Amino acid sequence: MIEPSVRIEVRRLLPDDAQAFSSLRREVTAQNPVPMGLTFEEELTRTLDGFKSQLSSPLPNAVFGGFVDGELVATAAVSRVSPFPSSHHKLVMWGVFTSPRYRRRGISRALVDRAIQHAFANGARRVNLQVYVPNEPALTMYREMGFTECGVEHEAVCLAGRYYDGVNMTLANERHEQIG
Ligand SMILES: CC(C)(COP(=O)(O)OP(=O)(O)OC[C@H]1O[C@@H](n2cnc3c(N)ncnc32)[C@H](O)[C@@H]1OP(=O)(O)O)[C@@H](O)C(=O)NCCC(=O)NCCS
Repeated sequence: MIEPSVRIEVRRLLPDDAQAFSSLRREVTAQNPVPMGLTFEEELTRTLDGFKSQLSSPLPNAVFGGFVDGELVATAAVSRVSPFPSSHHKLVMWGVFTSPRYRRRGISRALVDRAIQHAFANGARRVNLQVYVPNEPALTMYREMGFTECGVEHEAVCLAGRYYDGVNMTLANERHEQIG
């Protein structure tokens, strides 16, 4: 790992962070639309009110942001998949991305770890996610953090007429505790 040459502050994002969240999403989507699962043009249609509402979601839903000198440069989020208790034992991880200007400094690993800690501290037994492939950086990071692959959604997303599979990954609380 390249040692961070920057000081990172991590905190939960709130509705007032909607503008910064949108700007970062646009910066990442412009360069990496496949991992984000939508085109840049689609990202541009997303409204600030929509992001404010997303960032108002009650706990255990949470979006964590990494800040460098007050600028939001990375995020990682977890959300419930259903309002019903029958699905409260699992959370889905989403919104994992780092500004291309701040990659390979351990920022995403720190944010994903924070989101995982939050999920398990809030009673989740399992964190699930999906990676649109190819995306070796993300697959490598998640594997190193204990996630295992548990299936593939074929043709999970279609961008500019090309289909991309989604690799499903999962991390159980007991495995997370084992690997520390
Ligand atoms: C994947 C992504 C989030 C990683 O962010 P980052 O802040 O650069 O990640 P980190 O510096 O914390 O790296 C964590 C680990 O990921 C892996 N990794 C990150 N970038 C990598 C690369 N380009 N090639 C191979 N492995 C990579 C490494 O194992 C790395 O650990 P190491 O540096 O100790 O070897 C970033 O590349 C990104 O935003 N990509 C576009 C969006 C995306 O793919 N999001 C994931 C959606 S599921």
